[in-house]
Amino acid sequence: MSIDPKILELRQKREDARLGGGQKRIDQQHAKGKLTARERVDLLLDEGSFQELGGFVTQRTTGFGADKQTFYGDGVVTGYGTINGRLVYVFSQDFTVFGGSLGEAHAEKICRLMDLAMKNGAPLIGLNDSGGARIQEGVVSLGGYADIFLRNVMASGVIPQISAVMGPCAGGAVYSPAMTDFILMVKDTSYMFVTGPDVVKTVTHENVTFEELGGAIVHNEKSGVAHFAAANEEHCIALIRKLLAYLPQNNLEEPPLVRSTDDPLRAEESLDSLVPDSSNKPYDIKEVINRVVDDGEFLEVHEHYAQNIVVGFARLNGRAIGVVAQQPMVLAGCLDINASDKGARFVRFCDCFNIPLITFEDVPGFLPGIGQEHGGIIRHGAKLLYAYCEATVPKITVITRKAYGGAYDVMSSKHIRGDLNFAWPSAEIAVMGPDGAVNILYREEIAQAADPNATKQKLTQEYRDHFANPYIAAGRGYIDDVIEPHQTRAKLIAGLEMLQNKRDQNPPKKHGNIPL
Ligand code: HXC
Repeated sequence: MSIDPKILELRQKREDARLGGGQKRIDQQHAKGKLTARERVDLLLDEGSFQELGGFVTQRTTGFGADKQTFYGDGVVTGYGTINGRLVYVFSQDFTVFGGSLGEAHAEKICRLMDLAMKNGAPLIGLNDSGGARIQEGVVSLGGYADIFLRNVMASGVIPQISAVMGPCAGGAVYSPAMTDFILMVKDTSYMFVTGPDVVKTVTHENVTFEELGGAIVHNEKSGVAHFAAANEEHCIALIRKLLAYLPQNNLEEPPLVRSTDDPLRAEESLDSLVPDSSNKPYDIKEVINRVVDDGEFLEVHEHYAQNIVVGFARLNGRAIGVVAQQPMVLAGCLDINASDKGARFVRFCDCFNIPLITFEDVPGFLPGIGQEHGGIIRHGAKLLYAYCEATVPKITVITRKAYGGAYDVMSSKHIRGDLNFAWPSAEIAVMGPDGAVNILYREEIAQAADPNATKQKLTQEYRDHFANPYIAAGRGYIDDVIEPHQTRAKLIAGLEMLQNKRDQNPPKKHGNIPL
């Protein structure tokens, strides 16, 4: 039976659209070690679930030779599909068409997708690979970016927004990913910067490569712009799928509950001896997290940035949780500028999307130093304090060791609406550590003593005996219970179950004024 020519025409057009900028440019893309926009979408979504929208949209670019060639899709593949059976919206920029640059039609396609994602309450995933504003379209292209920026902000806290940077992302184009919840970058093939190496050289006379200026490692380790560094594109896409499994579809939903095979009452005896006897010796807080959560699975966010604080997602008896924890192995777990920013952002994300917060606290205080003070540790530390105060999701804290000074208050203390506050017997809760306290309280006495060192040692020991324990705080009711470390998992799970219907609200207001 012959096929209707109109259907043949449609099939031909679809095939042309599938090829984007043509086989030669596809080959060039592959030669750079990159997948095409469509290959990425196929890898990301459940097999056969992708439904494309706007595949026949063409560019409105004229001038500078752009009207001599027409490409279907205008450099971006948009549509919806499922990940593990759950609806998501995805756009994937096609570098083979005008270098994935953003023109009017390209921007409209992304905006339409964002509007659909908002109306239907499902996550938006952007796969970015673009030369930025389409030069031939001038201000229209800039307007297209602004249309996207506005939607990013309207969608913030309503639906999860995830950006993968899988190629260039330059100029003002970086600000759309920057306003989404998570940025993933691929090592060696992706970069982000506001002004590129050439402009940097002209203005500041610095010589720098693309990778050194804005590669995946730089943004994961130094700037904190990116949250994940993927080894390659497949890894990047697997990370997106993994991340989404912890998140609800939108702010009105609870995160998905999965069936856990890990015993909720599992007692992890090894935790009883994990904290060293000497309070100045470090231990790895990730050991604590891994031993407490379901099957030892912890998806760390911002793994390479401000490693003195650890944040990420895990599950307890199948329920998604956000974990915030000090890392005694880095800067003794002190809170500094970057750790405060990192923690605050994560706490606010979890609060937006109804993910309970579990805090493991071992913090000697805010990091002292001129650099920190002049860099604004007051302002940055206040962000973390603000975020914890503002959060209305269930909040459970476990003080494993030090809870000194302002940091005691900040880390989800009872006073700022911590719902359950536990301490291990190794907890030390005081205004400051013994050395500093004794120097201030007994300066005269030590100076005048026959043997100042012996006197100081004696006074320090007295202070330690008095404060280096959780019982004064427990006596006040600031700590709900002192628990044996091996009971931590069972206590947290019981607490989360008790808090599962928690309702708490902040007063009505336009929005608060977080100290940015
Ligand atoms: C139109 C573009 C383009 C752009 C690349 N192309 N960028 N077309 N507008 N912005 C086209 C090229 O002409 C080429 O077309 C194809 O894409 C691939 O580009 P190449 O240069 O051959 O690729 P490569 O060598 O890999 O270099 C990639 C690149 C480079 C580093 C991204 O193309 C580049 O520097 N582009 C300009 C980047 C830039 O400055 N953008 C503006 C940033 S400012 P053919 O036909 O040969 O395949 C900005 C403001 C946004 O974005 C503001 C928002 C508020």
